[in-house]
Amino acid sequence: MKQRLLITGPMYPATLAQLEQAYEAQRLWSAPDKDALLAAMADITAVASSNSGGINGATMARLPKLKVIAHFGVGYDTVDIEAAKKRGIAVTNTPDVLTEEVADLALALLLATIRRVPQGDRYVREGKWLKGAMALTESLQGRTVGIIGMGRIGQAIARRCEAFGVKIAYQGPNHKPSLKWSYYPDPVALATDCDVLIVACPGGEATRGLVSRKVIDALGPKGFLVNIARGTVVDEPALLEALQQGRICGAGLDVFADEPRVPEAFFALENVVLQPHVASATHPTRTAMGQLVIDNLAAHFAGKPLVTPI
Ligand code: 8YV
Repeated sequence: MKQRLLITGPMYPATLAQLEQAYEAQRLWSAPDKDALLAAMADITAVASSNSGGINGATMARLPKLKVIAHFGVGYDTVDIEAAKKRGIAVTNTPDVLTEEVADLALALLLATIRRVPQGDRYVREGKWLKGAMALTESLQGRTVGIIGMGRIGQAIARRCEAFGVKIAYQGPNHKPSLKWSYYPDPVALATDCDVLIVACPGGEATRGLVSRKVIDALGPKGFLVNIARGTVVDEPALLEALQQGRICGAGLDVFADEPRVPEAFFALENVVLQPHVASATHPTRTAMGQLVIDNLAAHFAGKPLVTPI
């Protein structure tokens, strides 16, 4: 008999298909009667969750036998970790397999924003080139790049930035003496000394609004902000206002506070490059992330140690 699994949010379709093949699985996010589904699933021991469909304490309370939440994503801010801890529920995530992919997009977004790559594409398509050359852009060269969050992804971004010959500094909760880059405990001080900020830290309450109005103003009118972390890390209204008023030069954003709802005011701005939260969204990387969800669930049901507990 197949084991039962509750899936709380959408994830890579091939992974979903594999989970639904291996388990007697139910989709919570699209269930017409969530309450009835939770009642029917009250004795399950495993949940698979995702960024757009996490799990809160109230839902955990409906599943008293729950032992493991296998989360699709390295960031798990949509899982109530405190509630899980209190109930002795293990949480797994999908680290490492997406590090390089996410860092690739961070650099793509950085260059696209400073060199106005999407704007250049539109310029050609709209026939504007026939009437004259596009305006020159700012440059990455000679700049100092500050990275907020020097974990696995932050370090992968820093390694790439080195190839571009820029200076690198970072901010985070801990100085990492094994790293050669300059450390700033304070994000305002980092922004003051940098021309480009790349946000690569975890989301959640600990980092909410970390990139504040003060940080944005410290970055200044020649500064650029790139965010591939979570929209919640940045004071989004303050960023929008700074972009509109030219108090910072530009921003490349893969994530937003209330995605997929992006404030329409961004659409009118020529100094932003917008992406629909795609830093890990390639077939090989999403397959590898999904495999970790599958492997963690298999380990749980086999009574083996979890593969990637947080
Ligand atoms: C998401 C991400 O998981 O891993 C993360 O933390 O942000 C992404 O890879 C993506 O939204 C998939 O649902």
